[in-house]
Amino acid sequence: MRKPLVAGNWKMNGSRDANSKLLSALQDGLGDLQAVQLAVCPPAVYLPEVIDTLSGSNIEVGGQDCSDEASGAYTGEIAGSMLTEIGCRCVIVGHSERRQRQNEDSAWVAAKFVAAQAAGLTPILCVGEQKEDREAGRTEAVVAEQLDAVLDAAGVEAFDRAVIAYEPVWAIGTGLTATPEQAQEVHAFIRNRVAGRDPRVAAELRILYGGSVKADNAAGLFGLADIDGGLIGGASLDADAFIAIARAAAESA
Ligand code: 13P
Repeated sequence: MRKPLVAGNWKMNGSRDANSKLLSALQDGLGDLQAVQLAVCPPAVYLPEVIDTLSGSNIEVGGQDCSDEASGAYTGEIAGSMLTEIGCRCVIVGHSERRQRQNEDSAWVAAKFVAAQAAGLTPILCVGEQKEDREAGRTEAVVAEQLDAVLDAAGVEAFDRAVIAYEPVWAIGTGLTATPEQAQEVHAFIRNRVAGRDPRVAAELRILYGGSVKADNAAGLFGLADIDGGLIGGASLDADAFIAIARAAAESA
């Protein structure tokens, strides 16, 4: 049985004041929830404070990115071991915003995935196609390329300690959610591709959906066979919305 995971990707949002209000509302609203694993991924500068605030709660904390290198002359980068040291449990790698803005290619993302695991973090590997890819019928080819790069670099058993997030780029921050059927189709494709290497790993692997998940569409997505929770952007900044999404995931468990 795969325990659903709902993770909030705050992206480059927040302030000390806003974070403190959001976290106290989340703790009040989610304190009793056991059927779903919860995480928030704030901007790196806020991590120590957020970890401190959430210590003893049922909400884990993760980074939004980490370096593919262990340490050294890499200005501006953060090593996985640094995230682990301060108390992070997971880290997002390969988010489409970084693939686009920082030109992270699949080989680089795979190296980050490996480095994150070496540091003891659970990578949340993001994959997903652009609008033009979908329109040209290339969704599966794009997702396969992103996934295979990591399977080849890390080995399929590494996915025992990882999570995949399918985030169609055209659905991120646009209000255009993939229909549950569109999402399920790609989730099943991802699981089958992993199953091609190891059916047991695939059966236990959590595959999250991300892209305009809101309180009113979460249940429809999480109810499907291969959707094991969500990676939430905009709605994770709104306590009521995030709580409702987490509850929808708990009910799907
Ligand atoms: P939105 O929920 O704002 O569409 O963002 C999704 C996302 O990119 C999460 O990583």
